[in-house]
Amino acid sequence: MKLIFLGPPGAGKGTLAALVAGLYKIPHISTGEIFRAAIREKTPLGLKVQAIIDAGQLVSDDITIELVRERLAKPDAAQGFILDGFPRTIPQAEALAGIVKVDAAVNFEIADAEVVARLSGRRVCKGCGQNYHVSFMPPKAEGKCDKCGGELFIREDDKIESITKRLEVYRAQTAPLIDYYRKNGKLTDIDARPASATILDSFKGMFPLA
Ligand code: AP5
Repeated sequence: MKLIFLGPPGAGKGTLAALVAGLYKIPHISTGEIFRAAIREKTPLGLKVQAIIDAGQLVSDDITIELVRERLAKPDAAQGFILDGFPRTIPQAEALAGIVKVDAAVNFEIADAEVVARLSGRRVCKGCGQNYHVSFMPPKAEGKCDKCGGELFIREDDKIESITKRLEVYRAQTAPLIDYYRKNGKLTDIDARPASATILDSFKGMFPLA
């Protein structure tokens, strides 16, 4: 299964992708997470993109497309993958079409007010990257990751100014992909409002396990 997860910031793409990847045994490829890992490791790529990401802007198409091209060439992506957060612009979608044929683009539908509530309460593990939410998905012990015991932190781009910017950028540059994939007959809408377990059930109904 070769899937794209499309939707506004904070729609729950990463949370569902992690569940689906485990269940369907396919890699979860998050361009945001690849950039954040580069920032943590202070690589040349990380140093180049840090300010852009913190401000809620998009990294350039050239850099992002090259990164995805390299990632999809790895053997674990041959049978299937979830692309979470890519493509995010029409040029990225056109480039992807020249790299691989995807089966579907899953469009997470959610209102802005819910996005703000989700992002402003998100906490992320410094050690393993696991996502939590202070109210909707709290860790068992406050400030600590259930999986690895790592410290939880607030992403720089989850500050309210960046959230507002990310929503603007989403509307201007990413939302046009909904029509792009609808015209290609690839779009599947999913209601992103319920709890993750309910969304996973809907997903399993749409894409049954082989
Ligand atoms: P990226 O990491 O892709 O950020 P995003 O798209 O803004 O998505 P998020 O990770 O914020 O949200 P999500 O939808 O995955 O939600 P999550 O599951 O975490 O990108 C970051 C940056 O990198 C971009 O701004 C850009 O600068 C750059 N970048 C990345 N890709 C790029 C590209 N292709 N081109 C150019 N630049 C690129 O959930 C959010 C919160 O809600 C969590 O707290 C979670 O616990 C909670 N939650 C999740 N699901 C539910 C639920 N069902 N009910 C209640 N709470 C829930």
